[in-house]
Amino acid sequence: MNVQGRPTRPAAADAAARATFTGNRALDIEEALIFETGRFDASGVDVEDPPPFVSRLGPLARASAPDLPGLSEPEAVRHYVRLSRDNYSIDAGIYPLGSCTMKHNPRLNEAMARLPGFADAHPLQPESTVKGALEVVEALAAALMTMTGMSAIAMSPKAGAHGELCGMMAIKAAIEARGEAASRRVVLVPDSAHGTNPATAALLGFSVRPVPAGDDGDVGVDAVRAALAPDVAAIMLTNPNTCGLFERQIVGIADAVRDAGAYFYCDGANFNAIVGKTRPGDLGVDAMHINLHKTFSTPHGGGGPGAGPVALSERLAPFAPVPFVRREGAALRLVEHAEGTESFGRMTAFHGQMGMFVRALAFIFSHGADGLRQASEDAVLSANYIRASLNDVMSAPFGDRVCMHEALFDDRWLKDTGLTTLDFAKAMIDEGFHPMTVYFPLIVHGAMLIEPTESESKAGLDRFIMTLRDLAFAAKSGDRERFASAPIHAPRRRLDETLAARHPVLRWTRSAPA
Ligand SMILES: Cc1ncc(COP(=O)(O)O)c(C=O)c1O
Repeated sequence: MNVQGRPTRPAAADAAARATFTGNRALDIEEALIFETGRFDASGVDVEDPPPFVSRLGPLARASAPDLPGLSEPEAVRHYVRLSRDNYSIDAGIYPLGSCTMKHNPRLNEAMARLPGFADAHPLQPESTVKGALEVVEALAAALMTMTGMSAIAMSPKAGAHGELCGMMAIKAAIEARGEAASRRVVLVPDSAHGTNPATAALLGFSVRPVPAGDDGDVGVDAVRAALAPDVAAIMLTNPNTCGLFERQIVGIADAVRDAGAYFYCDGANFNAIVGKTRPGDLGVDAMHINLHKTFSTPHGGGGPGAGPVALSERLAPFAPVPFVRREGAALRLVEHAEGTESFGRMTAFHGQMGMFVRALAFIFSHGADGLRQASEDAVLSANYIRASLNDVMSAPFGDRVCMHEALFDDRWLKDTGLTTLDFAKAMIDEGFHPMTVYFPLIVHGAMLIEPTESESKAGLDRFIMTLRDLAFAAKSGDRERFASAPIHAPRRRLDETLAARHPVLRWTRSAPA
């Protein structure tokens, strides 16, 4: 039996040991590019020749047919089904990517999002025909204000990074309104921050002043005070932070920032750890984005739709972007134009990700206040269970300190093995586990950031822990072979990830006939 409790395959049957004629492994089909399988003589549809016509395209007319692959319907269906089987998803197993909160999306959310009144709503429909959709937006905004303890919500941003931009644009507008645009040009960003934080500040023309995190993983109020000056517009601080720790000096930092005439932007990507436990507004936060696609379980990954509503404090609320929904008596009205308000303008063409709003509201209503708090507690409990269960075989940069929603390890424990964090992560794939986030946060050497979320059962966590322990023992006992060429059971072996990132091959070119 192997560590997951399944019978171990005999070595002779090891798929990696024997090449096959087709290149397939059992029913895991080696799929060619659609351009390589398509033909000109095939099509999924019969289209009649058009009646005779005189082309008006002149020199723009094509001299030859476009190089598009032709496939019959079953060929097209099979191609995409086979490709989809190479995808990994939260529906297939634990997806422990730290900082990503890959949690289960309850199917109830999907049923709600598919109701025709929501699924078929069009952003250009007359307002009188989308009252239900406006009710959803308003109810979600109200719930998010309750959870954050803040005064206003901008609903339209479409991802966390977009939310950061929105919050920082509100801060910039507030600073301009105070007549300090020329003097406050700096944003403080801890060195543990997610890359989107300094990128957002830079995009808006601010210069970034780094603040070092302390040896305990926290940003200290003294370090912030040392960086504060009359040129500072804001601080962007993540809480819980990217090391999976609650920033213990956050209230002191908020006070210092406010006393210096600056604003406090909180990166709320890790809100999942504190929903129902603490309200960012009570901690002194001025603006914070909430990744609905993380905390509220809406599907994400692979570039799918996100949603990053931004909660704003009383002093930033007047600068919120349009459009927004306003309750006027019993009725709801969509405010589309900034005129007559201090709004900084518009983030998106329309109103935000309606499908994500419906899913998030379904998640919130079906959990209730107690269920949401329980979800956060379970997420934190799961992460600490992993941390405590691996602490004796792996090294944690901040010792025994209790973590929030994610457990962070470094690579000191691999020091004498000749192996790296990447080797360890790749070997996890052979065991059927998607790796954790690696090499982030940057301030921790060889970081391994594991975020199990509340979705995993105790039995599932135990299988994961036993596998990592088994790998850790193998690494320490000198079984380098198991790591050096991993993954060997995956459809593709180890890639040159740097080359793939720096020089991605995104265009197919037909090779010249031999
Ligand atoms: C701490 C942190 N901030 C910001 C973001 C950006 O969020 P998004 O990917 O939705 O743009 C992420 C995403 O992983 C994050 O982990």
